[in-house]
Amino acid sequence: MTISDPATDRRVFRPTVLDLGDALLRPFGHGLDVPGGIVPALAAAAADPAVARWTPLGGSGPVDVEAYLDRCEARWADGTAAPFAVVDAADGRLCGNAYLVWTNRDDGVVMVGYWLLAAARGRGLATRAATAATRWAVEQADARRIELYHAVGNEDSCRVAARAGFPYEGTLRASYTYGGGVYTDEHLHARLASDPFTD
Ligand SMILES: CC(C)(COP(=O)(O)OP(=O)(O)OC[C@H]1O[C@@H](n2cnc3c(N)ncnc32)[C@H](O)[C@@H]1OP(=O)(O)O)[C@@H](O)C(=O)NCCC(=O)NCCS
Repeated sequence: MTISDPATDRRVFRPTVLDLGDALLRPFGHGLDVPGGIVPALAAAAADPAVARWTPLGGSGPVDVEAYLDRCEARWADGTAAPFAVVDAADGRLCGNAYLVWTNRDDGVVMVGYWLLAAARGRGLATRAATAATRWAVEQADARRIELYHAVGNEDSCRVAARAGFPYEGTLRASYTYGGGVYTDEHLHARLASDPFTD
């Protein structure tokens, strides 16, 4: 017999599209229609030097894009994560990613991540995507605390965290490997559901 828990039952990510005006957040999957095809677009993203250096997408060697898309579809299907593609609203090209995953559903804790292709940087897209995804997680899925981790050397990401309203909470020692087997220190930033959204 399955016992239903109303609190955790609400804490499920259901496929949705979020509109940022100049860009859309769409669920990643094999069916995502981007110019040139999603597989080459994701392979190019994984090969971007900053994405490869600072994210799990490219950090563990050549990325198996088909397997990555399989995992995205599986996570949307079971509601345990929300891997969004950020796509240009005008022409549909892939701009980046905003990713949410439940790290503790009982306690309502979610982790957020993001990357942008180089051509999409410098116009606030990561800040706006992270904010929109976070707000959706709070309002639609009852997220209580959203955590954001980045390698200490990743100052671009630290600025995204500050702009998106995630205060710095501390430095974790040798907490994560972004590839190459070397564990790096990370900053932990977080915002609470009770922190007001300013937009
Ligand atoms: C981290 C990363 C996403 C940041 O990209 P970004 O374009 O610098 O960040 P944003 O999209 O928030 O844009 C911020 C810039 O746009 C400007 N901007 C313009 N309009 C803006 C708006 N409405 N809101 C916020 N910023 C705006 C900001 O002033 C800032 O410019 P600056 O860097 O010259 O000061 C990008 O460097 C990246 O993909 N890196 C590799 C992957 C990575 O590190 N991911 C994070 C892992 S933890």
